[in-house]
Amino acid sequence: MNILHVSAECYPIAKVGGLADVVGALPKYQRELNVNSNVVMPFYNNKFTQNNSFDIVHDSKIVLGYDTLNFKILKLTNNDLDFDLYCVDIPELIYKEYVYSSDDTERFLAFQIAVLDWILSWEKNPDIIHVHDHHTGLIPFMIKQSYKYKPLQFIPTILTIHNAQYQGWFSHRKVYLIPEFNFQNVGLLDWNSIINPLAAAIKCAWAVTTVSPSYMNELKQNANGLETLLNHESDKCLGVLNGIDWNVWNTETDSYLIKNYTKSTVISGKKTNKEWLCNEFNLDINKPLFAFIGRLVGEKGSDLFPEIFKKSLAENDISILLLGSGNKETEKQLKALLNTDNYNAYIGYDEKLSHIIYAGADFILMPSRVEPCGLNQMYSLRYGTMPIVNAIGGLKDTIIDLEETNGFGITHNGVSVNNVTNAIRRANTFYQNKKEFVKNSKKIMSIDHSWNNSAQEYINLYKSLKK
Ligand code: ADP
Ligand code: GLC
Repeated sequence: MNILHVSAECYPIAKVGGLADVVGALPKYQRELNVNSNVVMPFYNNKFTQNNSFDIVHDSKIVLGYDTLNFKILKLTNNDLDFDLYCVDIPELIYKEYVYSSDDTERFLAFQIAVLDWILSWEKNPDIIHVHDHHTGLIPFMIKQSYKYKPLQFIPTILTIHNAQYQGWFSHRKVYLIPEFNFQNVGLLDWNSIINPLAAAIKCAWAVTTVSPSYMNELKQNANGLETLLNHESDKCLGVLNGIDWNVWNTETDSYLIKNYTKSTVISGKKTNKEWLCNEFNLDINKPLFAFIGRLVGEKGSDLFPEIFKKSLAENDISILLLGSGNKETEKQLKALLNTDNYNAYIGYDEKLSHIIYAGADFILMPSRVEPCGLNQMYSLRYGTMPIVNAIGGLKDTIIDLEETNGFGITHNGVSVNNVTNAIRRANTFYQNKKEFVKNSKKIMSIDHSWNNSAQEYINLYKSLKK
């Protein structure tokens, strides 16, 4: 079976968040299950594309509205990723140092048209086209409706929703950019009088998945306007929990770590990484270290951090370290706190530092208001670091509170300064019993969140669509 994943991000080529991690890992695991799974993404101007060589496998032109643009499909020359990586190079539009910006409509539409034009040139169609999030959400529509892509209309399409908050809305004035289709069906593109690529994909894809079962249930109640649509399409909807790349996220081999460790050397291993962090960020190695890694946006609850941090530091003998960027007001407030004892923050993006924090911190905070799956909590478990999470979406599906049977994490219900500070207090109390704390670290390192099961679940879905 030949599967083509179409995505705006893919680790390690271009990563903004968890979408990249998923698209960079899932195909590898599908290949281990004898499915020929590959990825096509835009060709950005970044370190990865500058430092790696690519072969041209297709060279043509696309029509985008009134413009004709040259495009090339480039294939990564080496096989280091364990799957074939194709990039769509449209120099005038896509080749920028950023992944997302204000010109996304044109860039991602051009990308999607180029992908379909390229597939038209294949000798044999792919068995499944698997699209991810709204940036690739017009593909199921175009395959069904654009005259040009009629030869592709029997290819089953799957949409995976990683985040329904963002839907790629654009005005009907730009509808001329989409390759010609029967205009009577323009309603398939529309949701609330605006073109909505995520809604179009939910309507037109053969199957729709979310990245955790709980998130699928939650979306039926609250999906940034798409609730009724998801309820209407619920027969083709399924929640499949993400996994993590067991080889990239491996305490024994992770080359970013200051010291590698196993379950039996977890105490000394975590200590060395924590020492490095404490030296680097002027924190006290003897205090429990609470950390956050992520995008500073409302969904992650980060607007409450300044208050949460002040209150928790005043009430507990702990230290706090944050790695993230996003909302400028939150960044400003977090920087203003920098003269507070036992607190530090790196405002920016740093892959290496994130790995050392997963290893060196004692607790990872995730007070997300919305969390379709969340990968940080799974990385934390793998690194023996206790997660403190709001029990929603994928967090609810992966973390069991200490007080429940077989519990190993700290959960709270709802995001408020009080709820999170109470959770931090509970965590600090648990930390004081060192023996239990270390026992728990070893226990969580044994929880298997590798992709094996979920990769198979997707394959079962592909097979059901091919029947
Ligand atoms: P989301 O995709 O909503 O941002 P996830 O939990 O699925 O959330 O994935 C976030 C990914 O991005 C993780 O791999 C996390 O380590 C990484 N990440 C987020 N912010 C940063 C940052 N500032 N520096 C390094 N890695 C980050
Ligand atoms: C999105 C979600 C996150 C999920 C990731 C990967 O960015 O916000 O919860 O883990 O996609 O699926």
